[in-house]
Amino acid sequence: MDLMTQNKLEYLCICKSCGQIYRSETNIVNNNCYQCNKYYNMGLSLVHRYMDFDNFTLSSETEKIYNILKKYDSGSLYLWGRCGSGKTHLAVSLIKKFNGYFKSVPELLLDIRASFNTENSGNTTEKSIIDYYSKLDLLCLDDLGAEKVTDYSLQTLYLIIDRRMRELKNTIFTSNLSLSELSIKLNDRISSRIAGMGRIIKLESKDQRIHNRFLLEKRIQDNFEKSKILRKKRLEENKIKELEISGMSEKEKLEFAEQRKKDIQELKTKISNLAKEKDINNILKL
Ligand SMILES: Nc1ncnc2c1ncn2[C@@H]1O[C@H](COP(=O)(O)OP(=O)(O)OP(=O)(O)O)[C@@H](O)[C@H]1O
Ligand SMILES: [Mg+2]
Ligand SMILES: [Zn+2]
Repeated sequence: MDLMTQNKLEYLCICKSCGQIYRSETNIVNNNCYQCNKYYNMGLSLVHRYMDFDNFTLSSETEKIYNILKKYDSGSLYLWGRCGSGKTHLAVSLIKKFNGYFKSVPELLLDIRASFNTENSGNTTEKSIIDYYSKLDLLCLDDLGAEKVTDYSLQTLYLIIDRRMRELKNTIFTSNLSLSELSIKLNDRISSRIAGMGRIIKLESKDQRIHNRFLLEKRIQDNFEKSKILRKKRLEENKIKELEISGMSEKEKLEFAEQRKKDIQELKTKISNLAKEKDINNILKL
């Protein structure tokens, strides 16, 4: 595509992960929007995209805990309760708010085991992974106690948790097990460290998973539908613009191309300044 054609068309860019539409390609990196990339860097997946304090439904069972967690500003937490009770949802909300890192414990152990295979692991070693997770300022270790227990998993978890405790790093654990059940499944040395690290909170609510999965899928589908309609509209607008351009003199065409180049440059600068200030909301409005 020549410079002129590139300049005269305004593209609608769609994030391949969440379906959000952006006016400018500068908002999309590697096919994903700024927000999806940011979440990816926090260890979050698509299913975590809509987990936020704002869309956590309050009930008599959850309200008190919700209010405690809304006021959280530091410290470690052990959130436990049955499946689907909202532990991960609340932990993810905190990770997003405080720019932490999210990791499921079974996944973490899998990553470490994969590092033994030197062919696939590049420079990543068992030690580098353990060091990395020990040093993060705020880490969510999700689903503790769901992993297969072996001498190796116990030793690895002990190492990370003990180091985090000693360095006063904030850790948010989630688990289906109470601390006494955890001490039986893992061991006393791990559970007693967690007990000493911070607050223990039990979630009592019923399983919300089935209902929410449907909502999440619907939301993403709606985004993609909306983007199709908008893209069609934009293509029509572009056709009109093309006609206008074809009626321009050579000089006007050049001026138009110059102006478009300037507009794109200005937008890029604006985005990079907002990105430095981590002002996502204003980036999304551009
Ligand atoms: N109070 C709530 N309001 C809105 N959505 C909720 C609420 N509680 C849970 N959910 C939703 O239900 C689904 C399951 O919740 P979540 O993943 O937090 O459960 P969990 O307690 O971590 O379960 P598990 O022990 O199986 O990991 C998610 O999609 C989450 O967003
Ligand atoms: Mg969970
Ligand atoms: Zn996105």
